[in-house]
Amino acid sequence: MKIGIIGAGQIGGTLIRQYTRAGHNVKMTNSSGIEKLQSLVSETGAVATTLNEVVNDVDVIVVSIPMIAILDLPRNLFKNISTNTVIIDTCNYYPIRDGKIKDLEAGMPESIWVSNQLQQPVIKVYNSIFSGSLVSSDLPKGTASRIALPISGDDKQAKELVSTLVNDSGFDSLDCGSLQDSWRQQPGSPVYCTDLTLSQLKKSIGKARKELLAERRELGLKYILTHDPEQWRDNVEYNRKIYESDLDS
Ligand SMILES: NC(=O)c1ccc[n+]([C@@H]2O[C@H](COP(=O)([O-])OP(=O)(O)OC[C@H]3O[C@@H](n4cnc5c(N)ncnc54)[C@H](OP(=O)(O)O)[C@@H]3O)[C@@H](O)[C@H]2O)c1
Repeated sequence: MKIGIIGAGQIGGTLIRQYTRAGHNVKMTNSSGIEKLQSLVSETGAVATTLNEVVNDVDVIVVSIPMIAILDLPRNLFKNISTNTVIIDTCNYYPIRDGKIKDLEAGMPESIWVSNQLQQPVIKVYNSIFSGSLVSSDLPKGTASRIALPISGDDKQAKELVSTLVNDSGFDSLDCGSLQDSWRQQPGSPVYCTDLTLSQLKKSIGKARKELLAERRELGLKYILTHDPEQWRDNVEYNRKIYESDLDS
């Protein structure tokens, strides 16, 4: 597939490595100058290019930037893309980084907000796994302990295509429904950064509680800010504990 990636940080950079390894043709861009992507170019063979070029003539576009930076993308960026091009949204809302975004504070699902800003349909995926797990917990298809990622969006065919990319990344996936319901995989949900297998994900996705998302997101964030980011596995364990009572019920 031809893939354009906006944002080559912890998540975008990992996807660039995984997708090129799987044989995909990848272009990428960042915000602070593509000369900074030279080592990633040498390592992966992906092409570093401009924002306008990264979205040109690709099957899939991945948007993997801080939520608030969505507002910096030019309004007409996607105006010439094919209707078949699938846009993946990996973004999460963290007020401490993004500032308060009124619609999100009011409960609008994060990917609906992203879709509204981009004026394009999006598929939500890769938002619910720590970059540490994305980098190092990939496993071959069929492995019992393989982590599964939720995928939400309104186009079934697009979700199927995205599931092949998730498999190329080394993970199972589960179609978790519409973009309107995608709050179920947001920060503060039992499936957020808890590294569940497919059968665990199937059992847990319906146990997300919208009214508790923000409070639990902040609990998880507090842990991240007060612990060594290299020890993200402890963070996964902590997140699982937050949801234990929900998951038992
Ligand atoms: N880190 C995680 O564990 C994790 C897990 C799941 C989801 N997420 C979410 O995924 C998104 C990306 O996270 P991350 O951790 O990969 O972030 P990151 O490491 O901070 O990387 C962000 C990337 O976006 C680029 N960027 C920022 N503004 C841009 C713009 N206007 N146009 C083009 N590129 C732009 C940055 O370029 P420069 O470096 O040049 O500024 C950088 O390459 C966030 O919404 C995050 O919440 C993160």
